Amino acid sequence: MTDAKPVLISGVKPTGDLHIGNYFGAMRQLVELSRGGKYRPFIFVADYHALNSMQDAQEMRRRTRELVTAYISVGLDPKEVVLFKQSDVPAHTELAWIFDTITTMPYLMRAHAFKDAEAKNKEISVGTFNYPMLMAADILLYDAAVVPVGADQKQHIEIARDTAEKFNRIFKTDIFKLPESFIMPEVAVVPGTDGAKMSKSYGNVIPLFAPRDELAKAVMSIVTDSSGERPENVYQIHRLVRSTQELEQVYAEHKGNYKMLKEMLIEDLNRYLAPMRAKYEELASDLGIVDEVLARGKREARAISEEKMEQVRRAIGVA
Ligand code: ADP
Ligand code: TRP
Repeated sequence: MTDAKPVLISGVKPTGDLHIGNYFGAMRQLVELSRGGKYRPFIFVADYHALNSMQDAQEMRRRTRELVTAYISVGLDPKEVVLFKQSDVPAHTELAWIFDTITTMPYLMRAHAFKDAEAKNKEISVGTFNYPMLMAADILLYDAAVVPVGADQKQHIEIARDTAEKFNRIFKTDIFKLPESFIMPEVAVVPGTDGAKMSKSYGNVIPLFAPRDELAKAVMSIVTDSSGERPENVYQIHRLVRSTQELEQVYAEHKGNYKMLKEMLIEDLNRYLAPMRAKYEELASDLGIVDEVLARGKREARAISEEKMEQVRRAIGVA
């Protein structure tokens, strides 16, 4: 715990079927931040968070494995990162309970996620209502300094800060460090094949680990609008894998030749993604590697979080 490097932590829900929007919009930044030795990184599969919406044992198991495999394939180094499953570390749910007891219902009712659900007249689970408390525990257990998240998660980090302050005040301690959010820049809202935001719920995705022929099929299905200067939906994806300077030229030279531009995009995408896909296939064929990474992450995360929990138990007077 006395490592001088600031701790970085982020949780990722195993909600699956990864596409290039996930990669360019989130995974790539998280992997970059966790490399290079600037931080002491912890990345975990937020399976207990996902349980609010994914209640199928087989799917949970499969998607958890897929997510870990995917992150390692796109460059996360399990030797540099503590990579673990939230459910493997009981301190998360234990601390969430303790936070529940010092948090009021009206406070949590101000959370965006709850207000959105209410506005839509949705009956949410108690777990969804409490989501910010579990997330506060995820963060505060490890003395996280930076928490890289998408902009939609900013409020959750503020709730974690409030909760740390409140706990420290009530129990006259300084056990919890206040985390900062690190809003990952929206480098790209990657458009899908229909031009709308790429999302697994819209059926407009280019899959991240698909073989070349599937990649080609997805690219060929990109909707093009012949009225424009250039096929914008093709271009916006193309610029993720080739410099805009080069593209300006190519798109000007081949103006109107959508077929050729798409074929070039298939080549470029395939070249970019092939090494990740190869790594993914390699890892997927050897189940032992992911198991081993998770087992090591579990040991390390448990040791650190248990130390913190001992302080917490003493501070609240149950130990
Ligand atoms: P989906 O929309 O396919 O359900 P998720 O909501 O599971 O994707 O997103 C997981 C992460 O990937 C989030 O951090 C989100 O910001 C990022 N992401 C998803 N789709 C895109 C996209 N089209 N462009 C940029 N980032 C994206
Ligand atoms: N709530 C985050 C999301 O939906 C996932 C998450 C859970 C998380 N616990 C976390 C992110 C702790 C950062 C830190 O994307």
